[in-house]
Amino acid sequence: MCVMGKIYGQIVGWGAYAPKQVLTNHDLERIVDTSDEWIMKRTGIRERHVAGPNETTSSLAVQASWAALAKANMVSTDLDLIIVATSSPDYFTPPVSSQVQAALGANDVPAFVVVTGCTGWVYSLAIAYQFIETGAYRNILVVGVELLSRFVDWTDRSTCILFGDAAGAVIVQATDQPCGLLGFVLGSDGTNGHHIIMPSGGSARPFDADVLAEGSHYLRMNGPEVFKFASKVVGPASDEALAKAGLTMDDVKWIIPHQANMRIIQAAAKDMHLPLDRFVVNIDRYGNTSAASIPLALVEHVNGGCIKATDKLLLVSFGAGMTWAAAVLQMQPEG
Ligand code: UT7
Repeated sequence: MCVMGKIYGQIVGWGAYAPKQVLTNHDLERIVDTSDEWIMKRTGIRERHVAGPNETTSSLAVQASWAALAKANMVSTDLDLIIVATSSPDYFTPPVSSQVQAALGANDVPAFVVVTGCTGWVYSLAIAYQFIETGAYRNILVVGVELLSRFVDWTDRSTCILFGDAAGAVIVQATDQPCGLLGFVLGSDGTNGHHIIMPSGGSARPFDADVLAEGSHYLRMNGPEVFKFASKVVGPASDEALAKAGLTMDDVKWIIPHQANMRIIQAAAKDMHLPLDRFVVNIDRYGNTSAASIPLALVEHVNGGCIKATDKLLLVSFGAGMTWAAAVLQMQPEG
């Protein structure tokens, strides 16, 4: 008789990429009616990376993916599945996941996109672990990428100052050693979807000359409403993910929150009765990179030596939908 043991997923590779061009708050002062002081005080953002003219969402994703493959000492044909989280793809069709697959030369490997806004990468990680734990796939590339600088209205100071372009990627590999996604929660409240929206360009309002004149194909956000929503969901979603993992906050070494606004992170720390230094923060240098924000922060802090692969991490995100996602992750097994 053959008895199959439980299958876990370990993260064997990780990589991130941010475009070279940096746009500072002072640069923005020359574009819209804003100030470095306002942006720093209200968001904690000092600068963000913006893609160059020859870069696309898929090219950002591919850079992060090559770095993750190199770290894992793998080639692209070792992958069984590619998941790309983004809300700013190269095209509506074809899916950017297939373009990433083609650019990596991962011939015939299945690939799909997850579009849940800023929570996309945590959603994708949860999906990847389901495929790993059922034994369906053994090596999964999970990318979070965003090129929102091409989707924001550069005349709208309430949004264009917030976002940055970047990509982060990990490779989840099957193992028999306990580790991986120890607990997670995903949620959605579509009744409030209008708070973060690209109103036109989809089936509800196809692109036409009026849309172009209005600029309603650009991203629109009701910042204060999103702020309130974020403050409401971060604590409970974190508690629920921890409860599902059978852990408490004391077991967690680092919290990696979605990097949307420093004030939201500070409010979460207060709400959770935790010191701010338990939170991984890089919003000052990258702004809000939406689905790329958590993998970017993760990769940067693992490569910098702050996060150890055996640390228990709490990932918590919120965004368009409205959606939320929290997960407890241990990248690699002990010992
Ligand atoms: O990742 C997706 C999830 N997104 C988020 O989590 C975003 C959450 N929301 C936020 O981060 C904040 O709401 C913002 C940073 C977007 C805005 O900050 P706020 O403190 O909520 O400002 P507000 O929208 O209430 O605006 C306050 C004032 C307004 O002026 P009046 O009406 O009081 O005269 C705005 O016109 O600040 C003004 N304002 C600005 N002033 C200078 C808005 N944007 C700017 C700006 N520079 N860039």
